[in-house]
Amino acid sequence: MASELEREVARRRTFAIISHPDAGKTTLTEKLLLYGGAIHLAGSVKARRARRHATSDWMELEKERGISVTSSVLQFPYAGHAVNLLDTPGHQDFSEDTYRTLTAADSAVMLIDAAKGVEPQTKKLFQVCRMRQIPIFTFVNKLDRYGREPLSLMDELEQVLGIRAFPMNWPIGSGPEFRGVYDRRAKVLHLFEGDQSHGEREVKEHLVPAGSVELRKVLSERELQRLQEDIELLDVGGDEFSREKCDRALITPLFFGSAMTNFGVRPFLDAFLTLAPPPLERLSTKGPVRPADTRFSGFVFKIQANMDPAHRDRVAFLRVVSGRYVKGMSAYNTRLGKEVRLAKPSQFLAAERTAIEDAWPGDVIGLFDPGQYRIGDTLAEGAGFEFEGVPRFSPEHFAVVRAKDPLRRKQMEKGLEQLSEEGTVQIFHQLGMGMKDPIVGVVGALQLEVLQYRVQHEYGADILLDRLPYSHARWVVGPSFDPKSFDWEGNRQTVEDRDGKPLVLFRDDWALDHAKEKHPELQFLSAAPQLRLVFPDPSRQSP
Ligand code: G4P
Repeated sequence: MASELEREVARRRTFAIISHPDAGKTTLTEKLLLYGGAIHLAGSVKARRARRHATSDWMELEKERGISVTSSVLQFPYAGHAVNLLDTPGHQDFSEDTYRTLTAADSAVMLIDAAKGVEPQTKKLFQVCRMRQIPIFTFVNKLDRYGREPLSLMDELEQVLGIRAFPMNWPIGSGPEFRGVYDRRAKVLHLFEGDQSHGEREVKEHLVPAGSVELRKVLSERELQRLQEDIELLDVGGDEFSREKCDRALITPLFFGSAMTNFGVRPFLDAFLTLAPPPLERLSTKGPVRPADTRFSGFVFKIQANMDPAHRDRVAFLRVVSGRYVKGMSAYNTRLGKEVRLAKPSQFLAAERTAIEDAWPGDVIGLFDPGQYRIGDTLAEGAGFEFEGVPRFSPEHFAVVRAKDPLRRKQMEKGLEQLSEEGTVQIFHQLGMGMKDPIVGVVGALQLEVLQYRVQHEYGADILLDRLPYSHARWVVGPSFDPKSFDWEGNRQTVEDRDGKPLVLFRDDWALDHAKEKHPELQFLSAAPQLRLVFPDPSRQSP
């Protein structure tokens, strides 16, 4: 018989939604919570968000810019599963934090606006998931509006992202003519019947089997013929469904629906939870660590300071990899070389923190952090080992930072240090003699504004940012590389990261390509090593 640990592992699913702003991530998240019974009327996530504005000055920036600076972890039960949804910030711009959250996920849901197709932010996030080889499920949203032809969207996924899609269901019409989706496996039509609740409550489901008399009644002759042709085309010309290919992100199961009206949310959730993997093994310096290993282990993938300005606290987010976390336990921090107590753990529903008693692999817990954790830290019971590093991603925007008032330099440095530990920015040091101002690098340009705002409001230092004309940073590795004498041609600069590792900043693609051509013996790395995952047997059963 399976142990309690094995049962808890088997029923967990930990994933993130990746999308471009406005595709409907907040709406879908809310609908998932609605179906999970975690909220009773959709609309409350937004309402709670509005309340938070009123109480937290840390959120002022969010209010001013209408962006979400923070991200949270939501846990909800659904059909025997414990579902962990890692919410990635959804604003116009995004940070390394968004990328790093993906290292804690075992699968991703790519949300696409049916009218817009693959948009830039989706593309970037997709590439991170691809790099990690986690399964990616696609939900095409807003079918209740006129959108693009489903076949053209499939084609775009393949052309732009290089992934083939396997439609699990297929839409009939869009906009006012949207009639529903046809489930290819069950061979039934889910009929779309709009109601007046604006998606506040679960949608009524009306299933019509293929070949039934009713189908001929609910679809016009033209709609029926079109559906038959489409399905035939998919059956004959499309790929076979393979769980193994899905696990390796070689195909993406494709779903259609409309989050606003709740249509298609339940069928999606059901199929997703069946196909998505349970918590995965992760590689470490002592080999793979299995979720069912009884010794507790986990890694810190995100640190957030000042979540509650009244307490000026810092929270380290830890993803549990193996064993059971029990309240009040201690674990060994390999980097510090000592045992630490994992204090004040909390789990999150939207912005509300609730204290927890225990947690299992796949779960994320928020630990009170008096400043002792760093992103990438491994915490484990027993002998020390480390999980393969949480990657740092190559920033694309750079600026030299100075304190407006030189007497506030110390505060500025403290702020930069903290925000860099939190992963908001990366700090680089200029090479050469004398004290030089630090350079910060960020993945999204808006992070520079966030940095300026936070250093001023939280650390009391006004800072000046002089933007630098670089757009790529590469960690350069190779026996012949000497950072001090690397040829300087005006369109690049050599710096060091916090660990003293050399990087070269390049002005543009051309400068980078030129350096690569000139130095074939060197490696130009855009990110540190990845956390590698090991997948279970693709023929596994769901609980
Ligand atoms: P985001 O988190 O990805 O940025 O997107 P969000 O859910 O905030 O949705 C962006 C807009 O798209 C919202 O409209 C939302 O209501 C709408 N939307 C989401 N899903 C669907 C859908 O299935 N069909 C249609 N027609 N619209 C959808 P808004 O006008 O910006 O905001 P609101 O006034 O509705 O809150």
